[in-house]
Amino acid sequence: MHRDTQVALARRLFALIDARRTDMSETCVRHPVSVYTCATILQQERDRLFSDRPLIITASSRIREPGDYLTDDRCGVPILLVRNRNGELNAFANTCRHRGARLANGCGSGVSSFVCPYHGWGYNLDGKLRVLSPRDAFPGLDCDHVDLVRLPVAERHGLVWVLPRPGGKIDEDTLLPGLDSELASYDLTRFAHFETRAIQKRINWKLGIDTFLESWHIDKLHRESINPIFMPGIGLVDTFGDNMRIVFPRRSIVELRDQPEDTWDLLRHTLVIYVLFPNTLLNWQGRHFEMWRMFPANGDDPGQSVAEASLYPPASLHNEQMKSYWTRNLDLLTGVVEGEDFKLAEDIQRGFDARTQQYITFGRNEPGLIRYHERLRQALASC
Ligand code: FES
Ligand SMILES: [Fe+2]
Repeated sequence: MHRDTQVALARRLFALIDARRTDMSETCVRHPVSVYTCATILQQERDRLFSDRPLIITASSRIREPGDYLTDDRCGVPILLVRNRNGELNAFANTCRHRGARLANGCGSGVSSFVCPYHGWGYNLDGKLRVLSPRDAFPGLDCDHVDLVRLPVAERHGLVWVLPRPGGKIDEDTLLPGLDSELASYDLTRFAHFETRAIQKRINWKLGIDTFLESWHIDKLHRESINPIFMPGIGLVDTFGDNMRIVFPRRSIVELRDQPEDTWDLLRHTLVIYVLFPNTLLNWQGRHFEMWRMFPANGDDPGQSVAEASLYPPASLHNEQMKSYWTRNLDLLTGVVEGEDFKLAEDIQRGFDARTQQYITFGRNEPGLIRYHERLRQALASC
């Protein structure tokens, strides 16, 4: 984050700390419970958010070298991402052109081709069919016209988006409007993937996101865990096109007050959450970043979801000596989110499913929730 932005945000935070308040919305908002329970809304979300829009799949550093690949099925489309020999990223449907078998699983490195496990057709890293056997069984089939189905992919500032629908196009200018330069300043390619954990919960996928969008529950729900670290009930919320930046201060931020402004290192004293629409959170955690991606689970139940948490420490600190440190870090993170936030969210979902109330209320002190759900409503209404 650029220094002038850090100083401007720190000044705003100190003003809020002095006033003992947070960024506020104009008014509170009634929010329909059906958003979390309605199967029709879930289907609209699948079509318009998880099929028609580019989704963040990973940080680039997870597939840094030629021959690195990664598969991803979370949005419902089996995606195969691979870096080719020239270092370019390709995204394909992870399905063989013969009879549709899945080509690759998990992730890996050092591959030069993908060989179908069913009958052995082989594809190069640009998706070209290079091994077709037996040839005489497929008269007239021209290898040069049987490429893997290509999916649009974009790589920007160390993040990778895929549009999970063939034939479309990603307009890169719409991915990070107003945040390009700020995200570039982190140089996310300096960070290495440590581990990704998937958490399946009986909650709507948006409840998983909601829990990150305000901090005034920290001194209640997280009193024993992270309350000693974060200053509850104070946060900055700024909107950039579809995306948002939310800044929550750590208690240590008061140290900056004794230091000259031009030395202020806001990033050491805050949690910065980039809410990258529609389902990804990129969280700067002082020295490293984490990525959360939330998805509806397979099936028709709006009350089931999968959250994926990935930790990316600086590449220079991703080594054997630091392994237990980063493992503890990830344990704390998933322990708090899964064991406290998502646990409580499961109770919320049960209450929603019981249909005892039609509306909940977002307070003026919850502008992140108000804006995020407003944007979701627009996205579903606009198509
Ligand atoms: S399905 Fe892939 S080779 Fe037959
Ligand atoms: Fe929380």
